[in-house]
Amino acid sequence: MPFDVLLLPGDGIGGEVMGQAEAVIAFLNRTGLTDIRTEADLAGGTAYDRHGHPLGDATLARAQACGTVLFGAVGGEQWDHVPYHLRPEIGFMRLRKEMDLFANLRPAVCPPALAGASSLKPELVDGLDLMIVRELTGGVYFGEPKEIVTQENGRRRAVDTQVYDEDEIERIAYVAFRLAGERQGRLASVEKSNVMKSGLLWRQVVSRMQHDLYPQVELVHLLADNCAMQLVRRPKQFDVILADNLFGDMLSDVAAMAAGSLGMLPSASLGAPDAQGRLAALYEPVHGSAPDIAGKGIANPIAMIASLGMLLRHSMARHDLADALDRAIAAALATGTRTADVAGAGTPVGTTAMGAAIIAAL
Ligand code: NAI
Ligand code: MG
Repeated sequence: MPFDVLLLPGDGIGGEVMGQAEAVIAFLNRTGLTDIRTEADLAGGTAYDRHGHPLGDATLARAQACGTVLFGAVGGEQWDHVPYHLRPEIGFMRLRKEMDLFANLRPAVCPPALAGASSLKPELVDGLDLMIVRELTGGVYFGEPKEIVTQENGRRRAVDTQVYDEDEIERIAYVAFRLAGERQGRLASVEKSNVMKSGLLWRQVVSRMQHDLYPQVELVHLLADNCAMQLVRRPKQFDVILADNLFGDMLSDVAAMAAGSLGMLPSASLGAPDAQGRLAALYEPVHGSAPDIAGKGIANPIAMIASLGMLLRHSMARHDLADALDRAIAAALATGTRTADVAGAGTPVGTTAMGAAIIAAL
């Protein structure tokens, strides 16, 4: 039975990098390794121009029926003037929300060939391979009350509320424990249990799950500020890092800088499995639509192709192919084939040539 994937290339370089992910899918299908069936739809500014909404009802219905989305990037200056809720980035958030994608996976990897491109010293990041698991639908970004109120003395007070239910902590911790079990078996759980009740509950729930369900996973608890420092000081100490929405947002950006170019970083957002055991999932590069280089054919397709790798791993359980794709990316880079963002003093190649080199290595 074919595995269905909805492609939403979006705006700017989205279509250019998606083209290379499609070339990898075509190669995998042609060789009989996969039977992935794709359909494509508009999203973001291009969808707004056509239908008046960055994510139309029909597209949302298609995404929900299919369950697996490979997404490029949306946004661009030409849509900055449209009403706020119809702006590509805002309108598009509807998809993540409607699919209830509560687990955001952001790997930070640094193949040896690219250690020089990191913001950190090469020896600190050479061979880096860590995964941040961020809770995506709860915590202080969504907690109620959330308001700015004018007090009796006329001064205003802003309120955000951090709320976590035990169920919410359990389901995200479950994702992190399972991943750690598939990787090096080490999990660092991050909170501020010294000053936050939600952090205390977080620590208790994660400890109990380790004791009851995952005794084989080595668990450490870290305060979030210490984790930020450790990520810069010695990032290779980590395997999987589990964090709430707020801390995970910040820590994943710190880890991204350790890994080097934005053009290299994939991500996955996962929901709960349906009755058939199929995960609702959206895979996308971390970068945006890069209007400054759009249309030039020079964007780095690796973040997009590595996002397809995450799809093979997490939605299709094809760890063999995901590993092979990771190795092909590292091998292509090692031969010196690189796009401008990571070429350093070397001669850069374009988007298509980078994709072709990865397929050849595969
Ligand atoms: P950006 O990620 O698009 O670009 C930042 C810088 O990184 C630019 O100099 C760009 O050329 C470079 N870059 C990004 N991806 C690259 C790649 N694959 N290869 C080579 N260089 C790459 O972020 P920016 O400029 O802040 O935002 C541009 C637009 O994208 C905005 O409209 C923004 O709202 C949107 N955006 C969309 C996201 C999404 O769709 N998930 C995420 C982030 C931004
Ligand atoms: Mg962020």
